[in-house]
Amino acid sequence: MAHKNKAHSNSNALICQAGSPLDGSSHPDNSMHAIPHLPSAELAKDFHPSMDFVIPLLNALDEGILFIELSGKINLCNRAARNLLALGEKQIIAQLFWEALPDNLLGFSMQQALTSRQVPLTKDIFITLKSHQERCLKVTPLLFLDEKNPQTTSPYASMILANPQGLLISLKDMTDINHLQKAAQRNGRMQELGETASLLAHEIRNPLGGIKGFAALLQRDLSEHPAWQKMATSILTGADNLNKLVTNVLNFARPFHPHIQPTDLMQLLKEIKLSVESDSHLSGHIALVLEPFQSSPSPAPKVPVDQKLLSSALLNLIINAIEASPHGGTIRLSIKYTHSEAQISVADTGEGIPPDNIKKLFKPFFTTKPNGNGFGLVEVKKVAQAHGGSVEVLSEMDQGSTFSIKIPLEKS
Ligand SMILES: Nc1ncnc2c1ncn2[C@@H]1O[C@H](COP(=O)(O)OP(=O)(O)OP(=O)(O)O)[C@@H](O)[C@H]1O
Ligand SMILES: [Mg+2]
Repeated sequence: MAHKNKAHSNSNALICQAGSPLDGSSHPDNSMHAIPHLPSAELAKDFHPSMDFVIPLLNALDEGILFIELSGKINLCNRAARNLLALGEKQIIAQLFWEALPDNLLGFSMQQALTSRQVPLTKDIFITLKSHQERCLKVTPLLFLDEKNPQTTSPYASMILANPQGLLISLKDMTDINHLQKAAQRNGRMQELGETASLLAHEIRNPLGGIKGFAALLQRDLSEHPAWQKMATSILTGADNLNKLVTNVLNFARPFHPHIQPTDLMQLLKEIKLSVESDSHLSGHIALVLEPFQSSPSPAPKVPVDQKLLSSALLNLIINAIEASPHGGTIRLSIKYTHSEAQISVADTGEGIPPDNIKKLFKPFFTTKPNGNGFGLVEVKKVAQAHGGSVEVLSEMDQGSTFSIKIPLEKS
């Protein structure tokens, strides 16, 4: 193992520090607090771990650990760090940090930090993975400098060991915690927003009814003035569009009260397929295929869902898939089970979604269609969440897109 040999050259003292606490506990917020407060001499005398012993320990940690020498050479990178930074098979050990990776990957310029011997305080950074997912990492840098020349901004100067010198960085995955915090804040805000939106929608609907009524009268009475009649028609169309929008906002703001019952998902998909196929206007130019079960336990479990809500969400996905396939194509419906959830997928061979749009898909009003409202996917996400589940999307330009609704097998 390349990194193992390299790390060998760089002494046990580092590993006592980097791997600390050696009792296997880890501090939740700041790994620096967990470093045993021992003078270096005592540490070196009492404990001489070999790298063979320490590397498995480092690799067993959930926390990512990196050590960068003052020259910029990457000396150590444990398994969690490789995973968190999505390094895959990329070899980085013994390379200069800024040559192997983007210099500011960790939210600060590595080159600048090592040259100036100034490290930032613990901070949260966001990195975007190849899958376009975002990961939130808590980055805690700790500078180790020569005892005789303790130029450090770290409050942990007393812990500085004579050797080695460089930057120890701990990485902690905060993505889930971050999501939960944001979701909690958002839920509170959404509730207020929902109430305001429905009030507003009702307030708009009343005068809108009046506008529509008068425009219809004008349209009727202006038959001798075609140009004016056209204007009245435009008012009517505008009022209709506004009414549609208000309905969407009301639907969005309306809380669901799902009526959950154990459901045979295959049967549900068969019914949806039939109803889409019977509407030639919808499915005239595409083939709708219902895949047999994938990795199905036998017999397939019944899944607790609200059948009406789930059918309407799947219909939204199928209509989107059809609209994304103007030149025809195939839409595949499939169900997959894991031990904990059912995954229902709608896969098309359509135009695909540009990467920049993926993040916007589930936001209200996001649409690329001239007559779209941008509420279909918002509704799909709301339905999935009402079941304690989620929606995922995979897409490749000009190849197609797959939307999957995941629903827990146990009612939460
Ligand atoms: N299967 C798909 N293939 C390609 N793009 C898609 C697909 N599904 C959704 N999109 C993109 O996501 C956007 C939002 O979809 P969404 O269903 O929320 O709204 P919409 O279809 O535009 O309007 P509506 O509210 O009438 O459904 C679409 O305008 C389209 O750009
Ligand atoms: Mg849609």
